[in-house]
Amino acid sequence: MLAFLFLGPTFFGAPMRVAIPAEISNAETRVAATPETVKKLVALGASVTVQADAGRTSGITNADYEAAGATIAADAAATCKDADLILKVRRPETSELAHYKRGASVIATMDPYGQDAALNAMAQAGVNGFAMEFMPRITRAQVMDVLSSQANLAGYRAVIDGAAEYGRALPMMMTAAGTVPAARIFIMGVGVAGLQAIATARRLGAIVTATDVRPATKEQVESLGAKFIAVEDDEFKQAETSGGYAKEMSDGYKAKQAALVASHIAKQDIVITTALIPGRPAPKLLTADMVHSMRAGSVIIDLAVERGGNCELAKAGETVITDNGVHIVGNLNVPGRLAATASSLYAKNLLAFVETMVDKETKSLSPKWDDELVKATLLTRDGAVVHPNFLPKP
Ligand code: NAI
Repeated sequence: MLAFLFLGPTFFGAPMRVAIPAEISNAETRVAATPETVKKLVALGASVTVQADAGRTSGITNADYEAAGATIAADAAATCKDADLILKVRRPETSELAHYKRGASVIATMDPYGQDAALNAMAQAGVNGFAMEFMPRITRAQVMDVLSSQANLAGYRAVIDGAAEYGRALPMMMTAAGTVPAARIFIMGVGVAGLQAIATARRLGAIVTATDVRPATKEQVESLGAKFIAVEDDEFKQAETSGGYAKEMSDGYKAKQAALVASHIAKQDIVITTALIPGRPAPKLLTADMVHSMRAGSVIIDLAVERGGNCELAKAGETVITDNGVHIVGNLNVPGRLAATASSLYAKNLLAFVETMVDKETKSLSPKWDDELVKATLLTRDGAVVHPNFLPKP
């Protein structure tokens, strides 16, 4: 008994303290917890502190968080001071790390490639940094898949943004004053975002076509009522990794596909590009010539703009209007344009991961370091960068 009193709760694992700071990037509208996930964290035995106004741009008030069982703190320092676990949307910057205690864990979308200095700063701050985007795409972790939850919303929003930018209606309308033709929408890249874009464009009454380099997408496109457009040669039939991702295609294939796409593009009203290859710059699919072949008033929505863009003329964070009147929209953080929905799904992804790390008896945070989800996502631990993708090359 005496020993128990002496060793105190830390030895046996104290209930965890969770912090939800406000995002400091101006480009970020989302928040890493909602009243629903706060309630569940509290039910797990956690005490939760939310920074004042952290949910404002997602339509969540301080009172909503308090009603769910959180305490509101005035600033980031007070929010994170004693936290064992910090939940964030974006990677913490050095100024934020200064508020975290050594040994704390932080879970976020870390966007770690090419960010060695930021990873080292996280290591030096002594925090365990987990990158949600590295979550393996296995059945157990589907509920934690932030890439899917956010890409799905980006695909939906791309169509809404395209419709808003386009000066005509999407569905065919037969009116007394004449018939309005249906808009033609072409989706390039049929992953999670592209599939949702197809479904949304169909619901809005557009005539939809789509292309991808992975053969498995053909059936998916057709099952959504859209037409598949691609060069279906032998290379195409092999163009998928065992992980279900696209491979970089040969120059020969790219040329054949570009020729097919070029004639198709000239007849489209809205083109939405979502094509990505993991760990590489986005493939350039829309050349300046293709853009110049489109009619005035046509719209291109480039969802890959943060990874270099699929369209040669797209500019990150801008809407470019070309000489021939094509609008090329390069919105940043497209899921953040639906902040309330994006936050609610993102927060649930995070909660599902946190649940796997909580010791049910002591209610403390105790990551299982040999769990495959932890191993796949852990970037820094005990003062060092530990993820194999970022270890110094021998
Ligand atoms: P992504 O965001 O990496 O890429 C988007 C799309 O661009 C992909 O469909 C890709 O094939 C396509 N693309 C790449 N290069 C292209 C090119 N040159 N021309 C045309 N298209 C090109 O993909 P995302 O959304 O992450 O999905 C990748 C795969 O993972 C899909 O098969 C998806 O169904 C699967 N997936 C599996 C999950 C699971 O099992 N838990 C969860 C989510 C997705």
